[in-house]
Amino acid sequence: MRDREALESFVRRLPKAELHVHLEGTLEPELALTIAERNGISPPFPSIEAAKAAYRFENLQSFLDVYYATTAVLRTEQDFYDLAWAYLTRAAEQNVRHVEPFFDPQAHLARGVPFGIFIAGILLALEDAEAQLGITSRLIMCFLRDHSVEDARKTLATAHLYRHRIAGVGLDSAEAGYPPELFRDVFAEAAAYGMHRVAHAGEEGPPEYVAAALDLLGAERIDHGVRSLEDPALVERLARERVPLTVCPLSNVKLRVVPSLEQHPLKRMLDAGLLVTVNSDDPAYFGGYLVENYVVAALALDLSRDEIVTLAENSFVASFLDESAKAAHVEAVRAAAALP
Ligand code: HPA
Ligand code: ZN
Repeated sequence: MRDREALESFVRRLPKAELHVHLEGTLEPELALTIAERNGISPPFPSIEAAKAAYRFENLQSFLDVYYATTAVLRTEQDFYDLAWAYLTRAAEQNVRHVEPFFDPQAHLARGVPFGIFIAGILLALEDAEAQLGITSRLIMCFLRDHSVEDARKTLATAHLYRHRIAGVGLDSAEAGYPPELFRDVFAEAAAYGMHRVAHAGEEGPPEYVAAALDLLGAERIDHGVRSLEDPALVERLARERVPLTVCPLSNVKLRVVPSLEQHPLKRMLDAGLLVTVNSDDPAYFGGYLVENYVVAALALDLSRDEIVTLAENSFVASFLDESAKAAHVEAVRAAAALP
């Protein structure tokens, strides 16, 4: 589909799930400034324009430096509520019906914000989103792979108090040089608590990290995984085992994981029979929320209507919803796609 307006309204009306979005990555500069001001702390940038001008990244690390600096404005339960609520209302406007957002507890604990503060704000926003916007959710806490394993272990122990409200664990932050095997025991502990497991792998790290995330961490989904294409045997395995991959087109271009949208591997991944989904990752930084990611990818790669519908269906199939909820959402995607 190449007519942008028709494409955008088609994508918008399809029910969708978002499975790879960092709540801290939805912090728009306007909200960051408001929060910094009310907390009486100096803003991470002098103006909105300066912030946006600074959002040009060389690689993952140059983004993470800005992301953690901006995240540092978040202090109170209300800050976390406002952050999550702003994302959820935008998601609702884009007909996102289910979300499985990430948050980074260690980033906040390291600044002295207690677990009970940020989790309360996030959970209240998720509850309100279900009641007022009809968006269901499963929350995922990520370990920072460039922090110590001991720190991850302590964080999991703290999180255990809130275990019934946290559906799973993930692994994010700087990837290269921090292989999945470091976190094998922590993930095993999370599994023993009945938590789901996902991991960023194959974004900047090699395809071996994708295999290690599956084999050593028991990852049920791979976040990014675009570098899997470098290993045909791995691609064959991912297709055979129907391993979901949460792909983030705008993120990959902004962080120079791929040179351009036209060269993005999303279509090749679909063609290889992989269970791929489209997601926004850190939409406040990368120039678009979920609909924009679908639209720019579909335009650059000339995706067909059927391929776009498959991506929306996959977003529910790859979720942690139960089978009957998945089936109902997939049915709703098909009904929306069939409208004239
Ligand atoms: N990759 C790794 N860690 C992250 C990202 C990302 O894109 N966003 C926030 N933390
Ligand atoms: Zn991510």
